[in-house]
Amino acid sequence: MTKQATTPAEAVIGQAIDRVDGRLKVTGRAKYASEFPVEGLVYAQGVNSTIAKGDITRIDTAAAEAQPGVIRVITHENALKLASPDADRLELSTTSIAPVLQSPEINWYGEWVAVVVAETIEQAQYAARLVEVEYNRAEPKVDFAQDAGYAPDVQPKYERGDVDAGMAEADERVEVTYRTPVEHHHPMELHAVIAEWEDENLELHLCSQMVNDNAKGIADTFMIPKENVRIIAPFIGGGFGSKLQAQEHVMLAAMAAKMIGRPVQFTVTRQQMFTNTSLRQENLQRMRIGATRDGRLTALVHDTTSHTATNKEYQEPCGAASKMLYKVANNRVNYNLVPINLPYPWAMRAPGEATGSYALECAMDEMAWKLGMDPVEFRILNDTQVDPSNDKPFSSRLLTECLRIGAKKFGWADRPLEPRSRREGNWLVGYGVSAASRQAPLQLSAARVTVYRDGDTVTATVQTDATDIGTGTYTILAQTAADFLGIPVAAVTVQLGDSRFPISPGSGGSWGAASFTNGVRAACMKLMEEIKVAAGTDATEGQGIADLMDDADLSEYAAVGSAAPTEEFKNHSVYSFGANFCEVWVDVDTNMARLKRILTVGAAGTILNPKTAYSQVLGGLVMGHGMAFMEQSKVEKQYGNFITRSLADYHVPVNLDLADVQVVFLPEDDKIANPMGVKGIGELGICGVAGSLANAVFNATGKRMRDLPITPEKLITTKIEPGVTVSR
Ligand code: MOS
Repeated sequence: MTKQATTPAEAVIGQAIDRVDGRLKVTGRAKYASEFPVEGLVYAQGVNSTIAKGDITRIDTAAAEAQPGVIRVITHENALKLASPDADRLELSTTSIAPVLQSPEINWYGEWVAVVVAETIEQAQYAARLVEVEYNRAEPKVDFAQDAGYAPDVQPKYERGDVDAGMAEADERVEVTYRTPVEHHHPMELHAVIAEWEDENLELHLCSQMVNDNAKGIADTFMIPKENVRIIAPFIGGGFGSKLQAQEHVMLAAMAAKMIGRPVQFTVTRQQMFTNTSLRQENLQRMRIGATRDGRLTALVHDTTSHTATNKEYQEPCGAASKMLYKVANNRVNYNLVPINLPYPWAMRAPGEATGSYALECAMDEMAWKLGMDPVEFRILNDTQVDPSNDKPFSSRLLTECLRIGAKKFGWADRPLEPRSRREGNWLVGYGVSAASRQAPLQLSAARVTVYRDGDTVTATVQTDATDIGTGTYTILAQTAADFLGIPVAAVTVQLGDSRFPISPGSGGSWGAASFTNGVRAACMKLMEEIKVAAGTDATEGQGIADLMDDADLSEYAAVGSAAPTEEFKNHSVYSFGANFCEVWVDVDTNMARLKRILTVGAAGTILNPKTAYSQVLGGLVMGHGMAFMEQSKVEKQYGNFITRSLADYHVPVNLDLADVQVVFLPEDDKIANPMGVKGIGELGICGVAGSLANAVFNATGKRMRDLPITPEKLITTKIEPGVTVSR
């Protein structure tokens, strides 16, 4: 046989190939939601409330409507009737409805009060400023710290053993509260949508992490069948959770398109993304840990108080890791939620686990120091192969390996043993460590694979409604199909993000890579089996797909397959694990903290593509660094508005802040997780990072930083912990 080499010499899964969509992106040919050329397109501009609580008493749109190019101004007085929530507070989910402009009531500063539609974006923006709104203003509640709140059903109280007895039997106790501020997602691509109706059918170009769930949320909001809604989302410029729901602006665009009978584009501005596209809520996390003198945990209590909107409910699960990361018989995780007049909170990268691991990993460090133990050894001593929250074995748990290998590669043995004991010129030097864990779910995920034969050459198209939010979905699915069909990556075309394609769970919760690749694998295997049957062979190897199609006299063939969690999966706890090691320098005069180097070790099963995987974890580390030292959305308490309203006020790390970053993946073969052995890494990279940095700041300065972000002014005003020897 002298056919074109359609069978790759070696598996391409696991190779650090370049992104298959990289060229499209850098040449601007990858189209994002707002960029689709749609005939007759008009533009919408949202208008925001200037009070945080109260009612609209009068809204005057005459001046705006009189402007050239203005087609319609929509307010609560003329808006279409949408579905209404079943309860006073709408429980947010990836399929939740998002009614908007349904009443004159205002729940937070910046809530949508009108939308202006015009022929050009400039006309819409100008006219939006002319909408006059008068309010009956009530006193907003924007502070929640003193409120007991209520116990949210979405995060029920969890308890095992007897925590009071566990605390009583402890030799050492840590009882402290950690605070994390409001943060915003701020993906690079602004939230945007183009909506167009044809009769009762709605088509949307939408930056959506989950097209199937969002189609449901939109359909339910407009009270039409889900089949009538089509979402097209081939490229998404980041989401970090904020694009998991179809939010109000999506409904405003669709409402406007319906009312005027033309396609409408709505882009939420960067400033509006502080008030209209969700946020990570502020959390107060009360940690109580008890341990024996020899370092065994006797109790772990994690009580979280957070805020939610007055009309919408969400609670991030800050105690998720506290239930399962360490072996401790007596454990309680509890939540209080306080409704206030701020925009609604929602999932942001590693919801609960990013913020919860800061509290847990700092508390563990505080305990290790009290015990006089190496914090790495303290964690290893309390490691477990059985999930204490449900008594299921972990499918594979390499936490100790992550800690040991990380410690060796980082040079942990050279750490300053005493806090505030090492100085380099004007800088105090500290080392910090944290453990990381993140659930590695698998969700039902389908794909269609179509192969085309032209002589001896076979090409393939993979279709699934899965999304690529910048993570590399196109690339890993091309790699998967190439290996399971036995053709080169270049012969595979991947098509994503169309709700007409087979249903996947979408990008979220670190389940994307595992779910999508197993779905594509299943479709490819089904296709190969069916072609073999058609070719009349049961040979397990030897013949490439071109020969088989030739023998079966096929020039084109398609199959749909799907993957779902197995019974074995359900009988195990399936998580990715990691460890972060970092070195932080703190200037003794300015109290500016700088990250000098960070090394993270991850055990996340099969690494499909080390290049895109590195990039994912790097992104998590950057976000964890931002969380520790920079990110915070500050509320002006009198008005209830955010005063950080641009990327000039809301600081995120830049290249210079990052210094020396190393990412190490441990080999891990976890076929219980799924047949591909893939475990999520999208969120693992942020988990524990802020904790390791705060622990390094303690090692450098002797100060426990229990309130993020760790700014120079907080470092100056925080006292050195009692018991730290101050020689400098
Ligand atoms: Mo993630 S917070 O599920 O995008």
